[in-house]
Amino acid sequence: MGNAIAVSISDEELIEQAKQARLGAHAPFSNFQVGAAIATADGRVYTGCNIEHSVYSLTMCAERVAIFKAVSEGARGFVKIAVVADYDRVTPPCGCCRQSLWEFAGPGTKIVLANLAGEIRLCDIEDLLPLPFDASFLEDGR
Ligand code: THU
Repeated sequence: MGNAIAVSISDEELIEQAKQARLGAHAPFSNFQVGAAIATADGRVYTGCNIEHSVYSLTMCAERVAIFKAVSEGARGFVKIAVVADYDRVTPPCGCCRQSLWEFAGPGTKIVLANLAGEIRLCDIEDLLPLPFDASFLEDGR
């Protein structure tokens, strides 16, 4: 990020943005609405919600919508992602989203899980995705 000034967004503010994003969820099949908000080191935030399809396997999770929106606009250097759903436990990212987080956010990324009841749990991507496969395996020109 060159000389960009580090701006830290609070967990609460990121949760609020994820909550707002959740309102856009298209989840007529599961009725399980999820919102996500991912922040860059220089304070930009990109949001996403889950988008389901009648062909269920085409469904896209809130986390990856947020990541793909951000990456498509050239953002990198993610520091934190918040994920919000309305369930009695906080909702952790699925396996695919963990891989996408590792791919684009990488080590050190903080994951903030929250529900509408106010429960908050903090995790590290390293704990959610131990022994990741990534680009380092592909660097020797095989
Ligand atoms: N879902 C997410 O968007 N993120 C998660 O972390 C877990 C699951 C969505 C996918 C699907 O639309 C619904 O929740 C039920 O699996």
